[in-house]
Amino acid sequence: MSEPRHHIAPEERLIVALDFASVGEARAVAHELSGTVRFFKIGLQLFPLGGIDLARELIARGERIFLDFKFYDIGNTVQNAVVSTATIGADFLTVHADRDVLRAAVAGRGTSDLKIFCVTVLTSQDQAALNEMGYPGSVEDLVLKRARIARDEGCDGLIASPAEAARLRAEFGDDMLIVTPGIRPAGSAQNDQKRVTTPAAALQAGADYLVVGRPITQARDKCAAAEMILDDMRAALEGVKGLRK
Ligand code: C5P
Repeated sequence: MSEPRHHIAPEERLIVALDFASVGEARAVAHELSGTVRFFKIGLQLFPLGGIDLARELIARGERIFLDFKFYDIGNTVQNAVVSTATIGADFLTVHADRDVLRAAVAGRGTSDLKIFCVTVLTSQDQAALNEMGYPGSVEDLVLKRARIARDEGCDGLIASPAEAARLRAEFGDDMLIVTPGIRPAGSAQNDQKRVTTPAAALQAGADYLVVGRPITQARDKCAAAEMILDDMRAALEGVKGLRK
């Protein structure tokens, strides 16, 4: 790992996914975690239910927000959608990996602080699914190809599974931020995640930010669950710093 990425404090690297069926539940969990967690992800489930207003509300309270909206449309529409999104004051936004979409998203965020993250290949898509859609190569090659396009178009980062993070970090060095979901503290339930990694292992693989949902949001003591993960992250970051001395 190289120098600049260490300037992000561990508490800033943990993003809690607010995947709930109502804004009320999401708000309650965000408030409960406030002070321990500083970064929250709002996705498509909450979007039609007032997710944007919740994002504005949390930003006004000083929280950071990742809008996981995975935009994919013609360039003109994406650009206008990102111009609108940039007014909210969120930190991160996801779009799909298509050159026009990526270029439009970067143009749309303009001089705002909104960072654009590229979803390369959805982890729900395996080799057979890609072949069926007409992509002849491997999933890994497609991830890398799309990630290069994202970098060339001026994207800030990539959403990457723990399995992909190391290869992407090796390829891009500090050019791209890497956000990694699929995180499970040792001993916790996998839920529907197929391949999971501990917080420490994901950071060691090169992730800058970790997205964690249920291990925190479904825990009886949510702050304690988040603290345990932050401890694991701090230990891993110390270890990495130690290696560089
Ligand atoms: O509850 P859990 O920790 O599995 O939540 C992970 C979050 O990250 C969810 O919001 C999920 O949609 C998202 N995500 C994922 N795997 C991907 C991409 C996004 O789990 N490959």
